[in-house]
Amino acid sequence: MRNLFDTRPKSSRGELYDREDELKFLDRVVDRPLIVVLGIRRIGKTSLLKAFLEPYNGIYIDLRGAGTHIELYERLSEGISSGLGKLRRFLEGIRGISIMGVSVSIKWRGQDSISLLGLLEELNRRGRFIVVFDEAQEVRPVLSAELRRVIAYSYDNLGNITIVLSGSQIGLMENFMGLGNVNSPLFGRYAVRLVVPRFTSDQSREFLTIGFREAGVQPPADVLEEAVAFFDGIPGWLVHFGRSYVDGIMDMGEIKERAVSIAMSELSRLSRRERAVLKAIANGAVTWGSARRLAEEYLGETIPKSTLTRIVNKLEALSIIKDYKFLDNVYMEAAKQLKLT
Ligand SMILES: Nc1ncnc2c1ncn2[C@@H]1O[C@H](COP(=O)(O)OP(=O)(O)O)[C@@H](O)[C@H]1O
Ligand SMILES: [Mg+2]
Repeated sequence: MRNLFDTRPKSSRGELYDREDELKFLDRVVDRPLIVVLGIRRIGKTSLLKAFLEPYNGIYIDLRGAGTHIELYERLSEGISSGLGKLRRFLEGIRGISIMGVSVSIKWRGQDSISLLGLLEELNRRGRFIVVFDEAQEVRPVLSAELRRVIAYSYDNLGNITIVLSGSQIGLMENFMGLGNVNSPLFGRYAVRLVVPRFTSDQSREFLTIGFREAGVQPPADVLEEAVAFFDGIPGWLVHFGRSYVDGIMDMGEIKERAVSIAMSELSRLSRRERAVLKAIANGAVTWGSARRLAEEYLGETIPKSTLTRIVNKLEALSIIKDYKFLDNVYMEAAKQLKLT
């Protein structure tokens, strides 16, 4: 049995802490054509989705960084392979799919090949089937256009297929889907939405208590309380804390620092101006004007108005901030420490 502090996503309902309401909701809407699951990084989307799939015929596809057709079909075959135990019967006899022992190969070009759309059509004939596309906003442009077309076709024609799109960057997800964009094939479609909430303080406390009990370790109450407050209901960070502590890093300062440096390396992908604006917000700028002044001061140069607006919008689309507030304390700490050279 895996531990609650296992840093990988959980994959079954039994491993999941709580999420009863979310699972109940998803079970209720399981036969809808399009479900969108949103939530900041480390909130537990992947764990929830894998646990959700457990009793159904379905696959989980991780789209992080997928840019080419080959990559899409690789992810697809990985998804099928990992669900092969229960899917073998369901997939039997589908052209273009060969099952060899515990792995799956998809032929997507040439004779006897099958496209993603063709595969969905075959699956649709066999009964209810759920396809989860995780971190869909990360798909690069060529592929994302195709994906939108396939999803739109499925929505309109394949009554047994349930598409679940999930993503951490909420604004980018909205752009990707383009439900309100006349130029998107998905324009005007209706998506059922679920926003995965953070744990309450009580849930965080209970989560940590169960995890530590499983590991046979008991941290002092004040350390536990500090973690509950700082990591603010984000399960991925609670796991980081629990795992670190169980592994012998018992100094809260060091545990926080390690979390901050993980966040920092993600933020380092932003441009210098974007980092300056983020740092300004982390240091208390709560309006457009004050963020601009402070960021300009850090940079020693002016930032055009339109540029600042674009940057603030991007930081929101990435779900790092909302209304000049950070959605995650760890990222706020990291932003305070950003270097602008
Ligand atoms: N409900 C939960 N019960 C147990 N562990 C969880 C839960 N939600 C998230 N986790 C853990 O938190 C970490 C991040 O979860 P993950 O599902 O990868 O989040 P996301 O996909 O939103 O980034 C993983 O280590 C995962 O095991
Ligand atoms: Mg995930």
